[in-house]
Amino acid sequence: DTIEHEEGYILDVLPDQIQIKASSDKGAFYALQSLRQLLPVLFENDHKEIHNVSIQCQRIEDAPQFNYRGMHLDVGRHLFPVEFIKKYIDALAMLKMNTFHWHLTEDQGWRVEIKKYPKLNEVAAYRKETLIGHYSDRPHQFDGERYGGYYTQDEIKEVVAYAAARQIMVIPEIEMPGHSQAAIAAYPELGCHGEQTEVATKGGVFEEIYCTKDETFDFLEEVLDEVLALFPSEYIHIGGDEAPKTRWESCDDCQLKIKNEGLKDEHELQNYFISRIEKYLNSKGRQIIGWDEILEGGLAPNATVMSWRGLNGAIEAAKQGHKVIMSPTSHCYFDYYQSDNEDEPLAIGGFLPLEKVYGFDPIPEELSKEESNYVLGAQGNVWTEYMKSSDPVSYT
Ligand code: ACM
Ligand code: ZN
Repeated sequence: DTIEHEEGYILDVLPDQIQIKASSDKGAFYALQSLRQLLPVLFENDHKEIHNVSIQCQRIEDAPQFNYRGMHLDVGRHLFPVEFIKKYIDALAMLKMNTFHWHLTEDQGWRVEIKKYPKLNEVAAYRKETLIGHYSDRPHQFDGERYGGYYTQDEIKEVVAYAAARQIMVIPEIEMPGHSQAAIAAYPELGCHGEQTEVATKGGVFEEIYCTKDETFDFLEEVLDEVLALFPSEYIHIGGDEAPKTRWESCDDCQLKIKNEGLKDEHELQNYFISRIEKYLNSKGRQIIGWDEILEGGLAPNATVMSWRGLNGAIEAAKQGHKVIMSPTSHCYFDYYQSDNEDEPLAIGGFLPLEKVYGFDPIPEELSKEESNYVLGAQGNVWTEYMKSSDPVSYT
């Protein structure tokens, strides 16, 4: 038996022994996960109670259809202890996922230690209070409790190593130019008008985004240098979603940039922003992933698109010869309601039951066979505006 796929394996349960064949550690690891799934559930918790186990004789020949099998976790809105992050990674490993997309920066909090910019951790990592109940409840009410924290570089190294031992690559997301209000609260000069703002206390889309002046790129490059030292992943996620252009429209620096770079408008300025960061990361041997808004105003030359607002972003990008990862709200937003049970926890909205998730085909019908080769895989997203503790995250 030859195993061609790096992640493939054959698991033979024979009368007197169990054999695993694989061409790499990855395949052998996934064979063990399949074996784990054949054991009684009790094994996962208290196997001291189990003295005898029988497994039916069988052969499993398995290899993944997609090379990118991801789960995301937003720790900006709420953060969770390192011990829980490890449990999350354990769950991904058992499900043969190979990517953990760690969403580390948000309007509501900056969660990665950056030694060069200590105010990201002293200021941007904390908000003065948090919205109570749902965003659509009016008037908005707040809990009055300071909230925050961040992962130290040592903790991040620990998580990355823990994930690697389970065949999982951790991809960090450093959001830009939008979802950056926390960073701008710490360093107001990163915004367009230099005015003091605060770390956001509720979810949503905010107008405080990074200014396109050169100093912002100096900051981002220095932040990314520290991020690259922590995360060996080929891909770095740079966000790119939900960046209103209102500040740029009234900013002298941004308007000058549009003029000097010969750009048509603020959408092309977004492309300038993303492409400039891409160039920097490419020069360090890395590739960027961005949410599908990075298509607006033109796509950075080597970017991979994560399609969340439906499938169109993916279709457009794949037709342009760019790699895509499928993460549409319709099938991949695990922060939606999952059942109509009475004890279903408060959620952002939507309805996404398990059957629908399992029924998801990551290849859009609109793509030809050749274009569908650009689909790297799929990812489930867990945004945590409404997940204050690890319990609801586990529920997803
Ligand atoms: C997103 O859900 N804003 C990517
Ligand atoms: Zn500006």
